[in-house]
Amino acid sequence: MNMLKIGFIGVGGIAESRHIPAVRKLAEKAVITGVSDVNHHRAQQIAETYNIPGVYENYHDLLENVDAVFISTPNKFHAEISVAALQAGVHVFCEKPMALSTKECDEMIKAAEESGKVLSIGYHYRFMKNAQAAKKVMLEGEIGEPLVIRAQGLRRRKVPGWGVFTNKELQGGGSLIDYGCHLLDLALWLMGDSVPVEVMGSQYNLLSRTPKQVNLWGDFDHSTFEVDDHVTGYVRFENGASLLLETSWSANIKEDLENVSISGEKGGLDVFPFHLNQAKHGLLLNSEAAFIPGDDNPGNPQAENFVDCCLGLAEQVVKPEEARRVSMLIEAIYESSLTGSSVKLNERKEVESQ
Ligand SMILES: NC(=O)c1ccc[n+]([C@@H]2O[C@H](COP(=O)([O-])OP(=O)(O)OC[C@H]3O[C@@H](n4cnc5c(N)ncnc54)[C@H](O)[C@@H]3O)[C@@H](O)[C@H]2O)c1
Repeated sequence: MNMLKIGFIGVGGIAESRHIPAVRKLAEKAVITGVSDVNHHRAQQIAETYNIPGVYENYHDLLENVDAVFISTPNKFHAEISVAALQAGVHVFCEKPMALSTKECDEMIKAAEESGKVLSIGYHYRFMKNAQAAKKVMLEGEIGEPLVIRAQGLRRRKVPGWGVFTNKELQGGGSLIDYGCHLLDLALWLMGDSVPVEVMGSQYNLLSRTPKQVNLWGDFDHSTFEVDDHVTGYVRFENGASLLLETSWSANIKEDLENVSISGEKGGLDVFPFHLNQAKHGLLLNSEAAFIPGDDNPGNPQAENFVDCCLGLAEQVVKPEEARRVSMLIEAIYESSLTGSSVKLNERKEVESQ
């Protein structure tokens, strides 16, 4: 088998902690041959640490020398670099969120369609063991059609104090686009092909704009804090299902909470921790899993699925149209929050390039 030559564009925290180790585990089919970062010193340091031969100041030069690329830059650059890579005939794994807007997502999907190359997005929650178990239970019809879905990604005081996470121009938003996107993506994936038709949302950032807040994830400047730190959303689907989303970096709640819970026609489930809730034999039953197979580190199966897709060996788990739907809902939640009205989606085409 030919080795897949992989490049990295943007080699900050997530590239080094998740993607580089995951790709290095796939040594029989993939090799990291180049890195590029606007912080050239950082690129050189990563290349040295991981014995990567190519360091490129200009990412276009890297694209000429690789088969596939991992893009882990701030959100603002996801679309531009992905489109350039796809147009250069390079497979793309792009970190989440897919882009800053549905329009940018459409440009990425169009470039992928025209190039015939793989485009996947880093929604790694789908590769978590509990999520895989929940998907299997859903596909086997154990809980029937989903009726009410709750997606919660709540942190009490964890505004990221590093990188550019509180910069609206570079990231497009705060807790919703950065963290809530994972739970939203997971919920939509578990629901299957339910089509969202209407969205309402509210966003807050009063806590993070208040001086002298306790924060467990480093320091940030409250006086320039301009993104959301707590968001609620309500999504209605064509089939009558509804989804309640709540996410925060900072909120006056008792403790952090992360879960997707689905109440379906025949039963229900919780993903974190995994629970199957059923009414059977005249009883109300709650089942726990004594064993869940899979890798404890979802970054490993995520990278393997991408590499295998590039090599034509596997079906893509995170499809770009699905990641685009997450971005469309995020955009609609922010829009609803600003206008105070619900946003109707049923007249918006799902994928504009179709
Ligand atoms: N899937 C997840 O759970 C997860 C977790 C963390 C971050 N992320 C995503 O990964 C991306 C990067 O986050 P991070 O935590 O690694 O941030 P980071 O700040 O640690 O790293 C970003 C790197 O990109 C470089 N960079 C900035 N602009 C660039 C450009 N135009 N071209 C090339 N390099 C550029 C920076 O110099 C830096 O080295 C973000 O999109 C973020 O949402 C995803």
